[in-house]
Amino acid sequence: MTSIILFVLSYFLGSIPSGVWIGKKFYHTDIRKHGSGNTGTTNTFRVLGVKAGIAVLLADVLKGTLAASLPYFFHSSLNPMVVGLGAILGHTYPIFAQFKGGKAVATSAGVLLAYNPPFFLFCAALFLVILYFSRMVSFSSMLSLVLIAITTLFIHDWILTLIAFVLAIFIIYRHRANIQRIKNGTESKVPFGYGYKK
Ligand code: G3P
Repeated sequence: MTSIILFVLSYFLGSIPSGVWIGKKFYHTDIRKHGSGNTGTTNTFRVLGVKAGIAVLLADVLKGTLAASLPYFFHSSLNPMVVGLGAILGHTYPIFAQFKGGKAVATSAGVLLAYNPPFFLFCAALFLVILYFSRMVSFSSMLSLVLIAITTLFIHDWILTLIAFVLAIFIIYRHRANIQRIKNGTESKVPFGYGYKK
């Protein structure tokens, strides 16, 4: 019973559509109607600027971290990664935003932050290196998730490995439109990194 309650709580936490709410409240803009149409950090940076982007990044990561900490708060022995999956699902299919949410990246990072902070730092660094060279957040998200899943094989934590592989596949699935744009050469790039000229 506790496991179901924690999973549902986690789902509700993840469902908080920070990008949509911050966009509407402070910028009178529905982020879903601009840029890539995604509700996550990247599109918020793109459409609403740095301040809003940072706010959404922090909120989306925090959702995952809090959700994965629920077993700790409720003195439960449930695996934080498993409970955190609820938040990742909520972030992607939010009950508070017609089930149209983000692409699972920032909230997954937040879950990992609560579960294994040193490994989170390694993953964040890996993501940033790939981002520096590719200048595409979508590509960096997908490639880093695949590499992270492979790296978990050396950590000997089979739940982490299983979830990492499931997430890698899910995140690639959520980036279908981005993959098409990468193929067409039309995927948007961040205004920094290797080869960037003003
Ligand atoms: O986390 C989402 C990111 O990887 C891509 O976002 O807006 O470029 O589709 P976007």
